[in-house]
Amino acid sequence: MTSWLQTSLFLSLFAKFFCSRDFFVPFGTENGDAAMFKNDDQFTRPIQIATLFPFFNRTFSFLIVSTNGLITFDNGVGSYNPSHFPLKEIVGITPFWNDINTNNGGDIFYREINDTLTLSLIASDIQNSFTGFNRFRPKWAFVATWFQVAQFQPSDGLLRNTFQAILTTNGVNSFAIFNYDRLAWSISTNIETYAQAGFNAGDGTTFYVLNGSFTPDILNVAMSSNIQKPGKWIFGTDLSEITDGICRNGGLITLDPYVVFYFGGEDILVSGPCFLPGVDTAKISINSEEEIDCGIIDFNKCKFTMKFVDKIGRVSIKLNLNEQQTFEGSILTKDESVIQEIRGLKTFYNSFENEEIRLEWNTNDFDLFDLYLIRLDNSKSSVVKLLRRNLTDNYVYLNSSELYSYSNESEYEYSYLALETKSQTRAINSPIRKFFTAKKFYIFNKLEYVSNEKCVDWHNKQPEPKSYIQALPPCWPSVPLATWSQVPHSFDNFVLDPACNPSKPNVCQEFHSGAFACYRSATSFKLNGYIVGQQCCYDSQNKLLVGPPGGGTLDMAHSSNVLEHFLSEVFPYFLCCKWSSNCDKYYDKRPSDNGDRWTPPRPAGGSGALHFTTFDGLSYTFNGFGEYTFLEIQEKNFTVQIRLAPLSSSNEKKPDGTVIKGIAIKGDIDIDSFQVELDANNKLFIYVNGELIELDEKEDQDISLNGINIRIPKTIDKIDLTYAIGVHFEIVFSNQKNAFLVYTTISQEFISKTRGLLGNFNKNKQDDFTLPNGTSVSLDPGLDRDVFSKFGQYWLTNEQSSIFVYDNNLTQKNYVDVNFLPRFMQDGVDFTDSTLALIAKEKCGNNSKCLFDISATKDVNIGQMTLDFDEKVEIFNQEIERIQSTMKRNDGSLKNSNNVLIFLTIYFIFAFISFLYVLSIFCRNK
Ligand SMILES: *[C@@H]1O[C@H](CO)[C@@H](O)[C@H](O)[C@H]1NC(C)=O
Ligand SMILES: *[C@@H]1O[C@H](CO)[C@@H](O)[C@H](O)[C@H]1NC(C)=O
Ligand SMILES: *[C@@H]1O[C@H](CO)[C@@H](O)[C@H](O)[C@H]1NC(C)=O
Ligand SMILES: *[C@@H]1O[C@H](CO)[C@@H](O)[C@H](O)[C@H]1NC(C)=O
Ligand SMILES: *[C@@H]1O[C@H](CO)[C@@H](O)[C@H](O)[C@H]1NC(C)=O
Ligand SMILES: *[C@@H]1O[C@H](CO)[C@@H](O)[C@H](O)[C@H]1NC(C)=O
Ligand SMILES: *[C@@H]1O[C@H](CO)[C@@H](O)[C@H](O)[C@H]1NC(C)=O
Repeated sequence: MTSWLQTSLFLSLFAKFFCSRDFFVPFGTENGDAAMFKNDDQFTRPIQIATLFPFFNRTFSFLIVSTNGLITFDNGVGSYNPSHFPLKEIVGITPFWNDINTNNGGDIFYREINDTLTLSLIASDIQNSFTGFNRFRPKWAFVATWFQVAQFQPSDGLLRNTFQAILTTNGVNSFAIFNYDRLAWSISTNIETYAQAGFNAGDGTTFYVLNGSFTPDILNVAMSSNIQKPGKWIFGTDLSEITDGICRNGGLITLDPYVVFYFGGEDILVSGPCFLPGVDTAKISINSEEEIDCGIIDFNKCKFTMKFVDKIGRVSIKLNLNEQQTFEGSILTKDESVIQEIRGLKTFYNSFENEEIRLEWNTNDFDLFDLYLIRLDNSKSSVVKLLRRNLTDNYVYLNSSELYSYSNESEYEYSYLALETKSQTRAINSPIRKFFTAKKFYIFNKLEYVSNEKCVDWHNKQPEPKSYIQALPPCWPSVPLATWSQVPHSFDNFVLDPACNPSKPNVCQEFHSGAFACYRSATSFKLNGYIVGQQCCYDSQNKLLVGPPGGGTLDMAHSSNVLEHFLSEVFPYFLCCKWSSNCDKYYDKRPSDNGDRWTPPRPAGGSGALHFTTFDGLSYTFNGFGEYTFLEIQEKNFTVQIRLAPLSSSNEKKPDGTVIKGIAIKGDIDIDSFQVELDANNKLFIYVNGELIELDEKEDQDISLNGINIRIPKTIDKIDLTYAIGVHFEIVFSNQKNAFLVYTTISQEFISKTRGLLGNFNKNKQDDFTLPNGTSVSLDPGLDRDVFSKFGQYWLTNEQSSIFVYDNNLTQKNYVDVNFLPRFMQDGVDFTDSTLALIAKEKCGNNSKCLFDISATKDVNIGQMTLDFDEKVEIFNQEIERIQSTMKRNDGSLKNSNNVLIFLTIYFIFAFISFLYVLSIFCRNK
């Protein structure tokens, strides 16, 4: 008996090492698995799992493994005879459901996986097969392995099946992986039904079964695949239907890496469509320019080398197959200044002919491999030249002639040194990934007499700047909402200048002496063929600096076009201000804005459940259920819509109120559209031009798109949106991340030009309840029953006017309930739960909006949002007052000093006359 058991144990170990396919996740007790006792028709106790597993729109916190080949989320399954999905009584998955009896042979193992190595194996399975998930990082996985399991009554002891099911999730998306070794039997003895493999939602209608289920062909699952790896199947399980990975993205492609340097050189993997036999050519066009080849490397991937693009931000990428089908996607380009990890390589500005240059770096900062020179000539085509290979020291000597050609008119040449380094290895088995890092440096002749001439020449050729500077939103006299020691990253339509800010005092000193921080126009502005922007610099007292040396300047080429900006702004700056004494000439054509035209923008928005404040300061409560026009600026073709919905998706009970769950913003065609939404399970989705953006939780993200700058901190608790046209949004999530507030400020330029729930901005509260047809209705804002039916509901959008992107076959109709009636605030705040009432009282004090929020949603955090919103508005208004008072003071002091001057002049004239008089008397007397 013992020896038989030992032999069988040995055989089973042996088999585990040599028979199961290499794509199985390591299993068995030696890998930390729990083993089920030998049994027939049993299942485990509910296993509490360390995550919430999303499955068919719902989430589950425990699971059960059944001997007969299932993992279920509600009840265990004892049934040995597979019943056809859909079934009401089962929620779960099955790689192979039939009558398994481990008393006759085989083992069933299972475990939760949280070790990084195994998770990274699972990650690469998903990354390699699911388009759009190239950066998928699972937080959790669970594996169950049916190892050499026998039938109920083996007629032949050697007929054994081995298969494995893996569940994994990153907390938002979830996947099931089925791994099959050779399957030897498809139907157990005693029963008449062949095995079934698939997924069942448990609602009696939603399910998915693998081909071959209920036929002898079920054995084919071990030889076929939905990801072209025989024996392996991967399914997306979080959505309302099971999804296959490949070729599912419709017209969209995914690019990896997604953020690259703008000067090109990186290899980019493209996935989306299948590159099956028959696809002969795959071509990429970058920013709609000429096509380059995309080399097909796998059935679901091709690869191209990124080219130089003179633009920081979103770059459109099109993939064309066989000159017939076109797929679209995008990539973000960045400048070196965004990269924090590059230190040690000194920027240098000058070199002379045949000079030896010693270039040093800090070996701790990067393990240097190859050194390249990337040169751009006047026509902006780039040449990549390998300078040194396999560098290991922390320095290199280069001759300036290697870097710079002194013949012809190459002074405008722009060069980069690029290092190709060995980067961290990623998942095991994946190749070492190359990546370009670079520190740019500029090489040109510093010849003062030439510079003088060149500066004068440049000055003569520049257009008059006045009309350009006046077309731009003005600089603020002082930066708002800042304890000046913590400069804000952005405000209104300005973002902190990466080159001059408190963390870079030296650069500030070099280019804007006296400045503490500078801000740049968030996005560019097109005028007469120029792409203009400007810079506003502030001193340590938070006062706007004007003129040289510290003042900000007009940019005739916005800084997002790096090369243009360099040639049009930076180089002339060197010619005029650094290499000759003509800085006044530079500022003559690139003046600072003095802030005179500035008028305070107005705040507005919506928060809690659900209170709105208009630009004119009217406050009202409106709990609609649907999608509404929030703000419309028709003159700019600018539309903002919000989605209002109950806090929790459960249909258990009629909700009392609604919260903000989505926002969509669309500008003119040259502005990228943007959408943020929390779905029914409070998963966050962000779309840009209809394309889903994946968020990095490791870094703050600063994304510059066409016409918008987006900032998302790594904590993902808020989103800052800055529009070039002078509109700013802050989307701030509740602590539970189940709703958000929208806070917006707009420029006074838009007076009398706005409509929607945020009212008609004209400094008159009385007409803020204006309907879409232009009729203004007179309502008491305190009577929210009237506000609901006589104003709010009129702003409901319809399928034609909606600018939201919908997924999963949903439409605008799925998000509207026209019959919904909220509880009205005018009927009083009503707590059925006395504990909640106490908590609410503590949180809100006497703030009735906050109390109402908590009573209507049963969630304290929603009340907190209202408090946060009101505080934001209050701080903003205080800041505006502070800024206005400094402006008045400046004017006042100027006047005073004039008065003093006049007084003194009169005094001196008088004194002089007196003096003459005295003198004359004196003389007369003499
Ligand atoms: C992984 O799981 C084991 C067993 O459940 C647990 O003891 C351990 O703390 C977990 N490790 C991490 C990093 O969560
Ligand atoms: C399943 O079978 C159907 C009908 O035979 C076929 O069209 C489909 O391609 C098969 N699916 C897979 C994944 O093999
Ligand atoms: C998933 O959620 C959507 C929207 O809430 C709903 O329409 C759909 O019926 C749900 N599907 C399942 C399988 O629960
Ligand atoms: C550089 O190093 C790589 C890897 O160590 C080696 O294969 C290659 O031959 C080396 N190249 C030169 C030029 O030494
Ligand atoms: C707004 O859109 C219309 C129609 O597409 C277009 O004719 C008009 O020029 C746009 N307005 C602006 C300010 O671009
Ligand atoms: C606008 O709509 C309201 C409500 O339907 C209606 O009472 C009013 O007469 C309309 N005004 C105009 C000018 O059509
Ligand atoms: C969407 O709906 C259409 C028709 O209603 C249907 O044919 C299609 O299969 C659905 N697609 C998805 C992904 O649900």
